[in-house]
Order: sequence, then structure tokens, then C-alpha cells
Amino acid sequence: MQEIDVANAFRLIEPGPVLLVTTCGTDGPNVMTMGFHMMVQHAPPLIGCVIGPWDHSYRALRETGECVLSVPRASMSATVTDIGNSSGVDIDKFCTFEIEAQPGITVKAPLLRDCIANLECRLADATLSNSYSLHILEVERLWVAPGWREAPMLHHIGDGYFRKDGDLIDESRRMTRWHHLAGL
Ligand SMILES: Cc1cc2nc3c(=O)[nH]c(=O)nc-3n(C[C@H](O)[C@H](O)[C@H](O)COP(=O)(O)O)c2cc1C
Repeated sequence: MQEIDVANAFRLIEPGPVLLVTTCGTDGPNVMTMGFHMMVQHAPPLIGCVIGPWDHSYRALRETGECVLSVPRASMSATVTDIGNSSGVDIDKFCTFEIEAQPGITVKAPLLRDCIANLECRLADATLSNSYSLHILEVERLWVAPGWREAPMLHHIGDGYFRKDGDLIDESRRMTRWHHLAGL
């Protein structure tokens, strides 16, 4: 994967793709599926993520204060669903689902090799963790695979149904107030 400026994080997260979240707590690396998230700030890039105490990953996130958000390819829908229907308490998901991991740089949680992108993140604010399971993450490193801009993403619409990205609609000429964000 190639590292690019974290200022591009919103290009991957604003579309609202289902994500995989890797962690590395005291019992080793784990991965979960996450559909509830949102871009919160451009610079430094902040992402709000719902990771609940029902997930084993929650403990690792709170323990270590770090994780990786991975953007899966549309072809990974079955694996994404299986990862979100099993727990790291019971199985090693990397072995069971044959997920290839590689080390990141600033966090211990692994990057996922087959994904479109990997965002190394640090927990910036857990104030709303108890009330909403909401965790604000700051993106510290951003890694992308070749062809990332064109790679279709998956969007979860509930009950294990997903939509895959469709046509690109170009309204860029109308973005007259936001030139400073273009062409990063
Ligand atoms: C499509 C899908 C989306 C999910 N979205 C979320 C989410 O946004 N937040 C969350 O806490 N759990 C979500 N889950 C559930 C977790 O992925 C699930 O609890 C998982 O088993 C946790 O793994 P762990 O126990 O190894 O951490 C989702 C599951 C699926 C299948």
C-alpha cells in the first residue's frame, strides 16, 4: 500500500462505506465490522465511530486507545458479514476468514492487505462512549491500494444487505465555496 496525506481521509469515509476495525489488545489482534460512523472534521481528520461494549473490540480500543479502520472491497461482502457475526472471544478471525494482515507504523493494530484503504487511528475523545458508544478517532496515517479512487465500496443497508457504489456523478463545478479542499 502507498501512504498518502491524511487530509484525504474524508474521501474514503464521507461516502459511508461499511468498515472493518482492527485492534490489538492484550489478547492479540482482532477485527470487527462497523456500519455506524461519520466524518466529523477535516483537519486534523476526525471520525466518529460506534463501537459498543457488546463487541470484544471495544475492550481493546479502550485499553490501547488505537485501532485501524479498513475500507473493504465490494468483493469482500461475505467476509465482512462473517466478521460481524463472530467474536474474537471465540475464534481467531484472521485464521478463520483467511484475512491477510500487515503491520502499521504508529499503531499496533494491523492493516488489512486486501482492503482499498487503511487508516491508522488514535482515540481522541471517548466522552460519549458510555452514553452512545461513540468514539472520536483521529487519523494518523492513511494507506491506499492502487486504484483506490475508482474501487467500489460497500454500503450496509441492514440485515446483511449491501449496496455497491454505482456511477460517479460530477457536480464539481458547483463546489464554488470549497476550492481549498479540492485536488488534495
Ligand atoms: C454489517 C454489520 C455492521 C455492523 N456495524 C456495527 C457498528 O457500527 N458498531 C458496532 O459496535 N457493531 C457493529 N456490528 C457488530 C459487530 O461487528 C459484531 O458485534 C462483531 O461480532 C464484534 O466482533 P468482536 O466481538 O470480535 O469485537 C456490525 C455487524 C455487521 C454484520
